[in-house]
Amino acid sequence: MRLHVTTGERRATAADIVASVGREIASGALPAGSRLPPVRALEKQLGLSKNTAQAAYDELVARGLVEAREREGVFVLAATQHATPAPIVTPPLPMFVPSPLGHPDLPPRGTTALSTVFIDPELLPTERIAECARSVLREKMPSQYDAQGYPPLREAIAKRLRARGLDVEADEVVITTGSQQSLDIVARSLAERRIACESPVYAYAKLLFESLGAELVGLHLDPFDGIDLDAWDRALAARPSLAYLIPSFQNPTGYSYTSAELQGVLELCRKHGVAILEDDWGSDMLSDGEYRPMLRMLGGKHVLYVNSFTKKLLPSLRVGFVAASPELVPTLVAMKRLSTLGNAWLTEAVVAEFLDRGYYDTHLTALQRALDTRYAACLTALDELMPDGVRWTRPGGGPTLWLELPRTVDMPALESHLARRGVHISNKAAAFVTSAVARPDGLAPLRSNLGVPHLHGFRIAYAFLSETEMRSALTILADALRGRAL
Ligand SMILES: Cc1ncc(COP(=O)(O)O)c(C=O)c1O
Repeated sequence: MRLHVTTGERRATAADIVASVGREIASGALPAGSRLPPVRALEKQLGLSKNTAQAAYDELVARGLVEAREREGVFVLAATQHATPAPIVTPPLPMFVPSPLGHPDLPPRGTTALSTVFIDPELLPTERIAECARSVLREKMPSQYDAQGYPPLREAIAKRLRARGLDVEADEVVITTGSQQSLDIVARSLAERRIACESPVYAYAKLLFESLGAELVGLHLDPFDGIDLDAWDRALAARPSLAYLIPSFQNPTGYSYTSAELQGVLELCRKHGVAILEDDWGSDMLSDGEYRPMLRMLGGKHVLYVNSFTKKLLPSLRVGFVAASPELVPTLVAMKRLSTLGNAWLTEAVVAEFLDRGYYDTHLTALQRALDTRYAACLTALDELMPDGVRWTRPGGGPTLWLELPRTVDMPALESHLARRGVHISNKAAAFVTSAVARPDGLAPLRSNLGVPHLHGFRIAYAFLSETEMRSALTILADALRGRAL
């Protein structure tokens, strides 16, 4: 037989022969069992060198399309006999191995979020923000950025803080993406990451510090009994490099330090050589324009102070800040530059405009009034609805209180029971600091840092839900607690 190898004028190559034979086998023109011309005949037919024809047949054998039988010749194999070409095995690329990361659960859409600390969007001044945004886009659009933040906003923040009794200059303020980024850059900047924080504490702070490899020291906080300064003295003897504290309307308990506790904590930090990071998320949510003293006010410039516009103005703006002593600012700015180069000045300019027009003060006054009403309504509903044995804190303002349940209540069962009725609560929003740090004096770790959390309950946040929504969620909760199922 003759093979049909078409190459035009050009002399056929081994690849041409392989391709032609492959095509003919596939089309059935060369059925199984057909004998291909001997190498020598092919050379003659196509005017090839012996090597070319042989190389083509070797390749056809390697592809499993034909077989060479000794002294008989080369034969086409049936399709089922075609050896599957050995797959090309490429070793997989190594997988990225993430470190395990805990996270509090978020309320699923459509559920009544009883533990969320956000403010009801109904209470947010969106129209006025839009007005400021339009004006910035028209007239003051920043064309650049730097890592410390939009200068007019830093000026405006420093001015506001000074009006509240804090000695802060604009160049001591670093604007961040929410106060969360302030916590991040401060913790990253620490030479030694051993951080004390209240227990329970705002969960994302604890998770953040842990993700940075920090060792945590728990400062036992019982919102019904106040701070046991002796216990804190013993805990701080572990000499953390930083104490992260939320002295006003603490998240998650709603607890506010008394003046004596503020002074006591400052003294302990002085005694044990512990720097302070004050998270003042709540103090300007206090009604009647009354402000609580802040650690930064009492302790001076070495207290790092963070606050944010996200909870009070508009969450999606993501604008917060940290005020630090002049020596520390360059480090914090450098750390922020490493993570974001700089944040969006456009958004920062909108907040600056909002402050400049005096809208923020008007808004805070209205917000405080609304929060007071919701807080009072929440307390009334709790008084009326909760069964005996349930206790709650009375923070006097802010967005959140702590509801303490009898130990007999099975929390996971309660959570799923409520979830089935469309109410979301989260006791994971409260992080208990249970890891114990060895004490420098060689004594066993502090007992209060170990074992079962000293509180058994969850956060109720009354800034997000309307009075009606709050009452119906609390009714569902009270019914569940009275039911025998839990
Ligand atoms: C106590 C506390 N600090 C800081 C933050 C971080 O908030 P943001 O980054 O929105 O300012 C939160 C958020 O819930 C919080 O509860």
